[in-house]
Amino acid sequence: MDYKVRFLEKADLEQVYEIEKECFINPWKFSDLEYELEGNPVNKFLVVECSGRIVGFNDFMITFNSATISQIAVTKEFRHQGLGTLLLNEMEKCFPSEGDQIVENVTLEVRASNVPAINLYKKHGYEVVVKKPHYYPDGEDAIYMVKRLMLCR
Ligand SMILES: CC(C)(COP(=O)(O)OP(=O)(O)OC[C@H]1O[C@@H](n2cnc3c(N)ncnc32)[C@H](O)[C@@H]1OP(=O)(O)O)[C@@H](O)C(=O)NCCC(=O)NCCS
Repeated sequence: MDYKVRFLEKADLEQVYEIEKECFINPWKFSDLEYELEGNPVNKFLVVECSGRIVGFNDFMITFNSATISQIAVTKEFRHQGLGTLLLNEMEKCFPSEGDQIVENVTLEVRASNVPAINLYKKHGYEVVVKKPHYYPDGEDAIYMVKRLMLCR
């Protein structure tokens, strides 16, 4: 299949919100997604589309020498086709490669029970740093993971 990765546009928000509700236990509100697009100065938001349909996204931010993945998701029927991988790789291509904002680390939190996501991150060089107890509203622990890019270059 033919996939295209590009930055989020306002017209995509409804489709992204549908994926958000499908994929997360505590989905963000529509207004949270709008804020990411229009109000968050450090946000970058990639979507992957297939035949004009948004099928996944990677919402991340870059602050100084660090990037943080806020949310990454692929709609169920398009999983296991390498799109999570594609979204992680395309994110790294967005990082400044020179100047004083070279990204050295990518960080994230993931639910301790989220084996698919933890495996995805491990496969792409992310390491478990620490467990954050009771991090989520329902009491589940988070696993804090980091990818050290400077070591990989
Ligand atoms: C996590 C997620 C983005 C993966 O997307 P995907 O497009 O299916 O991922 P890929 O096809 O690129 O898979 C890459 C690797 O991830 C891991 N993986 C993906 N799905 C998995 C599953 N169901 N079980 C175990 N490992 C899995 C595997 O290591 C896989 O490599 P392999 O194909 O060689 O086995 C997707 O499952 C998803 O959207 N989940 C719901 C939202 C979510 O939990 N996001 C993360 C929040 S931190």
